[in-house]
Formats: sequence, C-alpha cells, structure tokens
Amino acid sequence: MTSKLIAPSILAADFANLQSDIEMVNKSEADWFHIDIMDGVFVPNISFGMPVLDAISRHAKKTIDVHLMIVDPDRYINTFASLGADVLTVHYEACTHLHRTLQAIKNAGMKAGVALNPHTNVDLLKDVIQDIDLVCIMSVNPGFGGQSFIENTYNKVHQLKNIIIEKNAETIIEIDGGVTSKNAKKLVEAGADVLVAGSFVFKSENPTATIQELKNIIA
Ligand code: DX5
Ligand code: ZN
Repeated sequence: MTSKLIAPSILAADFANLQSDIEMVNKSEADWFHIDIMDGVFVPNISFGMPVLDAISRHAKKTIDVHLMIVDPDRYINTFASLGADVLTVHYEACTHLHRTLQAIKNAGMKAGVALNPHTNVDLLKDVIQDIDLVCIMSVNPGFGGQSFIENTYNKVHQLKNIIIEKNAETIIEIDGGVTSKNAKKLVEAGADVLVAGSFVFKSENPTATIQELKNIIA
C-alpha cells in the first residue's frame, strides 16, 4: 500500500451533533471513519451499538472501519455487514477460533481485521497473517479515548512488518490510541499504514485542519 490513511475515531465526536461531525469528516482529507463498539465486558466501558452505527452509516461517505471490543464477536458479523461496515476488526484476545472468525467476516463481504492488546505479541499472528487484511495494533489499553501512547508500539510495528514481508502477505497495519502529530511520522516510518485519531482530531480547535496536518505529516 502506498498512500497512508487517517481514520478519525467517532468515539471522540460530539454525540449531540453527530451528523455535523460526520459531514466534517466527509469533507475533510480523512480517509476512513473509525467506529469503536464496546460491550462493557471485553473492555470496562460501553460506547454505542447498532442504532448509532446505522445512523452514522446513513451519512458517512467514506470507508467504515468498525473496531469491535466485544466478547464472542461471531454473533454479530452479519449484523455489522448489514449496517455498512467495510472493515470489521475483532480482538485476538476475544476469539477462540480466530481463523474461522476471519473467514466468516470475509464471507460476509467485509475486510477482516485483528486487533492486538498492548500485551499481545505480534508473533501470535504468524500462522494466520495471510488471512488478515488489517492488523490493528492497540497503542493504548482499549476502552477509552484520550489516553497516552505506549512507546513500545514502534517495536511491535517493526516486528509485524517483518512478519508480513517474510510471509509475503498483503496485510496493512493500523495504529489505534494516543496518535498525535508527535508520533505520526515515526509510526508510518516504522511501517504503519492507517492511523486512528480520536481526541487529537475532535478535541482540537479546528478538526478539519488537524486532519490536514496529520495527512501532511504522513504523506
Ligand atoms: C480505544 C479506541 C480508540 C480511541 C482512540 O479503545 O479503540 O479508537 O477512540 O482515541 P484517542 O485517539 O483519543 O486515543
Ligand atoms: Zn478503536
């Protein structure tokens, strides 16, 4: 993949003005919408569910990247496909039969992603990397926006990139959590393809300009 992507995380948007934040992303230089679904079991927080995603996808005009932080995600694969998800990412730690889950996501017509918690070693994906369209390396503990970036992430990106090259896979690497203009360049230099940014974009004075700033940094 040549061009590097920015995916604003809607978790940090203003839920009382969701449509205007979605339109802002539509008109901006952003590439994807990143949508965080939390169940209060896999992570100690509950974000939003299907009716909100349905509302988002009625307005969103870019790729919808859904990050499931839920136990037993297999139950909802077809539901998320029908709600407009283009990429569906499940957590390694939540899937007993990951290979089967990945096939089910692809059979439902979506790109299949796997997210890794900060403590989960990238080597665990070696035997399944060719079946994964996207690996989401969590650079914070999942569950909340606005946390600080874990520095060990750079090592994980390097290691994962080497596995992808070694296995001749086409997997892309996404980074999620604590992304700012300070770490964006180093992350793409390490091998990242997609940067998720929540607070850094939506809590800034001018989110459109902040997205542009990130795009310029990683171009
Ligand atoms: C955290 C979520 C992230 C979050 C990122 O569990 O997966 O997508 O929205 O937010 P920031 O960019 O504020 O760390
Ligand atoms: Zn996320």
